[in-house]
Amino acid sequence: MATLYDRDRASLSTLQKLRFFPLAVSGGDGSYLVGEDGRRLLDFSASWGAASLGHGHPALRAAVDRALANQAGASTLSAANQPAVELAERLLEAVSGAGDRRVWLGHSGSDANETVARAVVKATGRKRIIAFSGAYHGGTAGSMAISAHSVQGDAERSEGLHVMPYPDPYRPFEGDATGGRILEGLQAAFAGPCPAVEVAALFIEPIQSDGGLIVPPPGFMARLVELCRRHGILIVSDEVKVGLGRSGRFSCIEHEGVEPDVVVMGKGLGGGLPLSAAIGPAAVMNCASSFSMQTLHGNPVCASAGLAVLDVLHSEGLVDNATRVGARLLAGLRDLAQRRTLIGDVRGRGLAIGVELVSDRQSREAAANAAAKVVYRAFELGLVLYYVGMNSNVLELTPPLTLTPAQADAGLALLVRAIGDVTEGRVDEAVLADFAGW
Ligand SMILES: Cc1ncc(COP(=O)(O)O)c(C=O)c1O
Repeated sequence: MATLYDRDRASLSTLQKLRFFPLAVSGGDGSYLVGEDGRRLLDFSASWGAASLGHGHPALRAAVDRALANQAGASTLSAANQPAVELAERLLEAVSGAGDRRVWLGHSGSDANETVARAVVKATGRKRIIAFSGAYHGGTAGSMAISAHSVQGDAERSEGLHVMPYPDPYRPFEGDATGGRILEGLQAAFAGPCPAVEVAALFIEPIQSDGGLIVPPPGFMARLVELCRRHGILIVSDEVKVGLGRSGRFSCIEHEGVEPDVVVMGKGLGGGLPLSAAIGPAAVMNCASSFSMQTLHGNPVCASAGLAVLDVLHSEGLVDNATRVGARLLAGLRDLAQRRTLIGDVRGRGLAIGVELVSDRQSREAAANAAAKVVYRAFELGLVLYYVGMNSNVLELTPPLTLTPAQADAGLALLVRAIGDVTEGRVDEAVLADFAGW
């Protein structure tokens, strides 16, 4: 009989697949997924951070049930509904920011970033956007147009997009680990090919996630924001993967001591249901009517899921949990790095953690195949995690925010074994044949 994975291969398009091993999921609870073979797998990805409360959280289920039991329509386009309004009000309270602001609700990080990119251009009359090399702001045409990740090599970029290097303390641009040379480069661009008066907004990932889970050096973002503000450039913080408590603060940009103009959320906001939000100045978010809308935007079911996520973040102290359990994982991984030269760098904030693999610690040459083998072996052992990075060599840990210390230890033990097996040559190259990853 064909397996679920085989049927998936025979029926679902590859256009939306990013596969690392033959995982087919039949269910899940808490931090565990259940494979089609009945195996329980510890989930250190949470579906790329989307399952922020783990799988099947009772509060999320109850909220969705309630919303469906007396369904207030299916859209906010042509009618107000209570959950969407309440979610907007709650987000305005939770995300710090000055002045008159409004919230836009969408389905995904992609549609939210695309909307903001279009709105800042419309609102300011300036046509350029600044983004970082390695940035992944989404998979729709408009969000790809302001991204610069290698996986989207063929995508058309927006006219006048200025791409600057992301400050990577492990791989410093022109040898300057503070990122100072990057800022000098931006100043030179303002004076030349990218006049600051033409720039509507700077898009920041406060931790660059798909580009390699890179934590910027202290003070860099504050200096960058100050430089851009001098020229009236709006600051957009893309918090889609690392926001909503994952970093140990509600918004990840809070670590940098700066207040962006626009905050974009997605993934974990719906706890597994499609939901995103952009919170920003009314001058931008109200710059036009009927400008960025899809029928199901602001639907009461997904908005109710968002409210449940905000409630549970608070009632279960998940932001603090991310700090505590994340520190435990980081300590364990740093300890492992003492014993395994395959690990070049361990970094992260809260429960957003990256482990960069290198074939040589001196030259820091990326060990891309090793990352693919480690995640494959981890899957065989019972742990789900994926890799990211422009060199495909960074293991990414974004587990549910509900992860317990015992689960962190259990997952770490599996990762220790997987890295050991790869280092000692026990994982055959052939297992990767069907898994191009990215
Ligand atoms: C920082 C960031 N922004 C935006 C997106 C796009 O989100 P989605 O795939 O939910 O549309 C992602 C997805 O990985 C992301 O990591």
